[in-house]
Amino acid sequence: MTKIKQINIHLTEEQVNQRIAEMGAEISKAYGDEPVYLICILKGSVFFTCELAKRITSPVEIDFMCVSSYGSGTKSSGVVKISKDLDVSIEGKNVLVVEDIIDSGRTLSYLLHNLSTRKPKSLKLCTLLDKPERRVCEVNVDYIGFQIPDKFVVGYGLDYDQLYRNLPYIGFAEIEE
Ligand code: IMP
Ligand code: MG
Repeated sequence: MTKIKQINIHLTEEQVNQRIAEMGAEISKAYGDEPVYLICILKGSVFFTCELAKRITSPVEIDFMCVSSYGSGTKSSGVVKISKDLDVSIEGKNVLVVEDIIDSGRTLSYLLHNLSTRKPKSLKLCTLLDKPERRVCEVNVDYIGFQIPDKFVVGYGLDYDQLYRNLPYIGFAEIEE
């Protein structure tokens, strides 16, 4: 089993929350008084969704989906599985998918296609982090918190083997080989 040797802080809790407040303002401006149906992608987006939802002034509904393309390591497997689906139909709703990080883009390209077949009124994507260098599948991202280099990050919801999600900051993880 590989372990994390060290975590170097890349974005502090204050920096992350400040940026999320800006994203919330931008999203509120875009939707105005129209209700927004936030889909939090479990588990990584939980912290981001909570903070973002608090900064949106449009009426907000929150639902959860669990989709994974990752095994237990740091590389995407390319296999996408929905292990928890939405509670209700999104037909006619303004859907905003909230993701922690877009890496290869495999998970989101599959998910956006799947959601678009359910006839939402609109379908947008918001991510806290984006690793553009790693993209394999093209995904149209409407709101991006931060672009980061091709390094493995943990904290603020992001995990390494299910650990470190609770770190209040985002850090680059040095992994022991
Ligand atoms: P994609 O399908 O390759 O875009 O994978 C996206 C998912 O991979 C994210 O929702 C994360 O769960 C996971 N992931 C990708 N990069 C990282 C990282 O640097 N740290 C932690 N999880 C990551
Ligand atoms: Mg994830």
